[in-house]
Amino acid sequence: MSTLEKFRQECSAFFDELNMGSQRPLVFGEGPEHQPVLMLIGEAPGEQEALQGRPFVGKAGKNLDAFLQTVHLRREEIYITNVVKVRPSKISAAGRVVNRPPSREEKALFTPWLMREIAIVRPTMLVTLGNVALQAFIDDVIGNRHGQWSRAEIVTPEGEAFQLPLFALYHPASVIYNGSLKQTYADDLNILAGSLAGRINIQNDI
Ligand code: URA
Repeated sequence: MSTLEKFRQECSAFFDELNMGSQRPLVFGEGPEHQPVLMLIGEAPGEQEALQGRPFVGKAGKNLDAFLQTVHLRREEIYITNVVKVRPSKISAAGRVVNRPPSREEKALFTPWLMREIAIVRPTMLVTLGNVALQAFIDDVIGNRHGQWSRAEIVTPEGEAFQLPLFALYHPASVIYNGSLKQTYADDLNILAGSLAGRINIQNDI
């Protein structure tokens, strides 16, 4: 069994015990398991992700395609995951199951698992989408950090600690809801593409 398979088993057992995983299936990260160039971190699975058991499929997958095209990477080359690994949902006034933002408790429960996941996969860099993913590492808001490199401190519950370069992007969903962010998001993606193309030395210049 690979270390990541063991991680998934342990994580499933933990959330089964809390009765979270069994009610709402856990959606784990996917991609190369050993030192991929980039780990993309979203907020939480939505409806399609929970149905298909994969991160960033459906509408979110379409946004991801645009991301990949700009940074000249293929989906298979990057590791894609979320902070919260169950779909945060609620019943709407119309009686439908709809998405909601992850609660404080969900974020607190899942963040240590994300740290373990990063320590196992060891990507070269992190790219976060939106406030929830950014704030798993850095106590700041996306409005201050988007389009820039920061240093993320990774600390696992077992006490392993290391740093990784982190590039913060707005969440693509917020760009859909707020049209004025569209150009900003495009500019930020171009900065990331420039970094990946080697115009800045990510390891040394941050
Ligand atoms: N789908 C995901 O897997 N994560 C998000 O943050 C949004 C949609």
